[in-house]
Amino acid sequence: MATTTPWWKGAVIYQIYPRSFLDTDGDGVGNLAGVTEKLDYLNDGTENSLGIDAIWLNPFYPSPQFDFGYDVMDYRAVDPQYGTMEDFDRLLSEAHRRNIRIIMDIVPTLTSHLHPWFIESRSSKTNPKRDWYLWHPGRERRRYPNNWMGAFGKRPWDWDNKTKEFYYHNSLPEQPDLNWRNPEVQKAILDAMAFWFEKGVDGFRIDVLNLTVKDELFRSNPYCIGRRPYDMQRHLYDKDRPEAVEVGKMMRRLADRYDERMLVGETYIFDPEQAAKFLGDGDGVHMAFNFSFMNSRFSAARFRREVSAWERAVGNRGWPAYFLSNHDNDRHITRYGRGKWTVARARVAAAMLLTLRGTPFLYMGEEIGMEHGRLKRHELMDPIGRRYYPLHHGRDGARTPMQWTGEPNAGFSSGSPWLRVNPSYPTTNVADQERDPDSLLTLYRRLIRVRKASAALSAGTYTPIDRVEKGVFAFLREAEGQKILVLLNFSRWQRRLSIQQDPKRFGKKVLAYPDIYAGSVPLARIELAPYGILIAEV
Ligand code: GLC
Repeated sequence: MATTTPWWKGAVIYQIYPRSFLDTDGDGVGNLAGVTEKLDYLNDGTENSLGIDAIWLNPFYPSPQFDFGYDVMDYRAVDPQYGTMEDFDRLLSEAHRRNIRIIMDIVPTLTSHLHPWFIESRSSKTNPKRDWYLWHPGRERRRYPNNWMGAFGKRPWDWDNKTKEFYYHNSLPEQPDLNWRNPEVQKAILDAMAFWFEKGVDGFRIDVLNLTVKDELFRSNPYCIGRRPYDMQRHLYDKDRPEAVEVGKMMRRLADRYDERMLVGETYIFDPEQAAKFLGDGDGVHMAFNFSFMNSRFSAARFRREVSAWERAVGNRGWPAYFLSNHDNDRHITRYGRGKWTVARARVAAAMLLTLRGTPFLYMGEEIGMEHGRLKRHELMDPIGRRYYPLHHGRDGARTPMQWTGEPNAGFSSGSPWLRVNPSYPTTNVADQERDPDSLLTLYRRLIRVRKASAALSAGTYTPIDRVEKGVFAFLREAEGQKILVLLNFSRWQRRLSIQQDPKRFGKKVLAYPDIYAGSVPLARIELAPYGILIAEV
């Protein structure tokens, strides 16, 4: 029986932080209408657009914005800052008209402290929603229930004076965690997802899926050696619980009731085997994010190792997903930056992301090489940066407004942007790069086109090639009738190499060498420029 490949396997997905994408009403905050306005930039069906297949939108639900939308007050509405439900419906239909799918962000682990559920829950010990959150009387003399630490660096238990119990919040005190052992909670979140599925939303990115369920007995974690207080304990009981895998499966059963929906888990885990557990036996989330690149040096050997580990862990249970940047981490162009080689390095990184086996997630702005923003203390908005500066600058640097043009505020807003625009915008912006055939944007467009035109690159197998020249990451992607060789030079030296393949010469097309190349390359004598990229059909 012929099985068709699900759309998300062949897709390139683009992450948008709506607050920082485009502001159409001059209040300094990006909005949904701004996303709609830029759909043609993302994919207008021609070679003059990026060519992505789906957008993942960070949360735009009503929220007091303590954690910029990851503190939800209502799972079935749009925050007026971002527009109205009509704006969303319009975005969805305009996107679908261009064959762009819409992935939303569901935040199942926690809500805002202003969510009506929590307001009820904290109102009395006998309230029917009391058990929707994690309440605990604490140990004798008001000592914390256990030794757990919160992800944002403080103790995650706060005393509530009215009902004289602690409530648990892994993130901010304004973000109480839901009790996923309560079937009513499960139903409430699944119903919210169904609400959006019914509207036609194509999938969800599931916020910290691995944190949904906590130990039933609230056991203390064993201590270990670590740099930050959070790392000084092994998080056996407050995260990565096997029960959280079941949460992914519940969501999958819901998604399967609709056609062609996709779930990707934010499995904030650095151990590939642990993260891959969320794929179940093909009955969990379709994809789990691989976070290993966040810690990877810019090294061919290192990336190769991480990819092999992820390939092994994912196996046939699901499908790999890769990203280099997102709204929580330093932008990779800056992480990997090295003086005059910075853009060259970003080019190799892009070629890797877009040729690996697995769905690539791009983060808005990486296609033009937007640098991580450097903000002064008084400019910080992220609660993490505000609390830990200068030890930690927070996540604002990844969230500075999109740089559309060289005009004031980078064309992001006619008002005063909620977060300072990176001063690099006069030289790094979409308008300039659209006109430049050698720009990073042009390379992203070309790589996406090459990937999508190739069965081997979008859905084929992955086989690393051993013993090539130092600093070169080499692999084959194969599908029926097509074999693609990818060579990525992660070093700043020219590399000469010889690849043993049949036939001995490239008979077919060279797709990129280093970026564009016409003609064939002798396999026995390949010259790879510093940071050179070769993608060739063999
Ligand atoms: C996820 C989000 C992050 C948020 C956190 C708390 O890690 O990506 O932005 O702060 O969850 O829900």
